[in-house]
Amino acid sequence: MTTEQKALVTATVGTLRAHGVALTTHFYRRMFEHNPELKNVFNMGNQQNGKQQMALALAVLAYAENIEDPSVLVSAVTKIGHKHVSLDIRPEHYAIVGRHLIASIGEVLGEAATPALLDAWTVAYGELASLMSGLESGLYQKAVSQEGGWTGWRPFAVKQKVAESAEITSFYLHPADGGRVADFLPGQYVSVRLFLPELNLFQPRQYSLSSAPNGEYYRISVKKEAGSQHPNGMISNRLHDFVREGDIVELAAPAGDFTLETTKQTPVVLVSGGVGQTPLLSMLDYLTLTGSPRQVVWVHGSRNAQVHAFREPVADLAVGYENVQQHIFYDTLAPGLEAKNHYAGIVDLQQLNGGILLPEADYYVCGPAPFIRKQVQDLAALGVPREAIHFEEFGPATLSV
Ligand SMILES: Cc1cc2nc3c(=O)[nH]c(=O)nc-3n(C[C@H](O)[C@H](O)[C@H](O)COP(=O)(O)OP(=O)(O)OC[C@H]3O[C@@H](n4cnc5c(N)ncnc54)[C@H](O)[C@@H]3O)c2cc1C
Ligand code: HEM
Repeated sequence: MTTEQKALVTATVGTLRAHGVALTTHFYRRMFEHNPELKNVFNMGNQQNGKQQMALALAVLAYAENIEDPSVLVSAVTKIGHKHVSLDIRPEHYAIVGRHLIASIGEVLGEAATPALLDAWTVAYGELASLMSGLESGLYQKAVSQEGGWTGWRPFAVKQKVAESAEITSFYLHPADGGRVADFLPGQYVSVRLFLPELNLFQPRQYSLSSAPNGEYYRISVKKEAGSQHPNGMISNRLHDFVREGDIVELAAPAGDFTLETTKQTPVVLVSGGVGQTPLLSMLDYLTLTGSPRQVVWVHGSRNAQVHAFREPVADLAVGYENVQQHIFYDTLAPGLEAKNHYAGIVDLQQLNGGILLPEADYYVCGPAPFIRKQVQDLAALGVPREAIHFEEFGPATLSV
């Protein structure tokens, strides 16, 4: 990019800050009108609730703000790359997105979109697209180079469905082709794709792998998302109510950068709210199965015992492994539970101060966005360094620290 082109992109920062979501909303509307086949690739739930428009607007803004040195965006771009790879996004898709993004800039900015500005954004987009598709190509190569690895969608049979609580059910997924499955890093997710007759579309969703790798199958644990003011969640309800043992679903290979650093020997604190426990459960399962001597603290918040999934297996690990401790928070406490590391209210790390401030510990946080925000703020207030705090949102990234 020339210096003038960089200056033109930087000059759009104010507009992007004020109207970024209007731009990305226009962009998606335009793209789905011209390329309706992409509705099978995007999460139509995130289009309805506006989260994806927000995530893309934040990404475009961050790129414009850092056009002089995009290398500061490496970790954000890596996270997006993992998501793209788990949705089988290919280099040829970038041309389609680029065409609609540049046209949308022109349509939304009107007369302010001079030919020079559109040229500058075309070059800027092209550079970002080649950086991202290069990174994604590396992830695809890595996926197929492992035993049991693959790219694209692979059919899996639901061998077993196990209710873990009133709302969460586990699915044991075995490759329908009888082959092996690739190992993964504890904390990674797979995308699951189902055909939804009511939309006449395929729809993908990400689900964290909820057990340690075993070479034979993947386990995911899905919360049935009941909409109160909104419609019920499309895929989670279909998985719970219609997908039976023996049915086939399609999976993309494991991806994701919210992972346990398995080479470390230092303590690990796993902090989850509700179904956000799934990636952390995989980490806990891995640490105990491999006989790791690392100190592990499991902190989990649930509304009550009925919706508290994996209550018994985790309690058994806390009893069976002296280096594993657990702290459980419920909205209200049944009498007698206080003595057994159970607390009333939402997860409050300040209450556990002594129990979780361990030398050189890494902190992994997962749950709803407001939960993550609170835990990350509390950890920072307790003096935990930023680089020791890791978190994952169960949807397009909207939080930054
Ligand atoms: C990395 C990652 C890992 C994940 N791991 C897990 C996991 O281990 N377990 C798990 O259960 N989930 C997990 N998720 C979440 C999962 O991918 C799905 O988002 C979830 O199952 C909901 O999908 P759905 O199709 O049922 O709901 P959708 O149909 O996608 O709807 C999503 C939400 O939006 C609401 N909604 C619908 N229409 C509107 C509207 N018009 N306006 C506003 N809101 C609306 C719905 O009620 C619902 O609550 C993960 C997500 C990510 C990104
Ligand atoms: C430079 C170009 C691109 C940028 C900056 C970009 C940015 C993003 C961002 C920020 C997210 C959210 C990631 C998260 O989950 O936190 C995302 C997700 C996604 N992107 Fe891209 N993307 C680009 C190109 C593409 C292309 C070419 C496609 C293919 C059509 C694509 C398809 C998707 C899909 C399907 C998702 C998941 C959407 C969802 O879960 O709702 N993206 N992208």
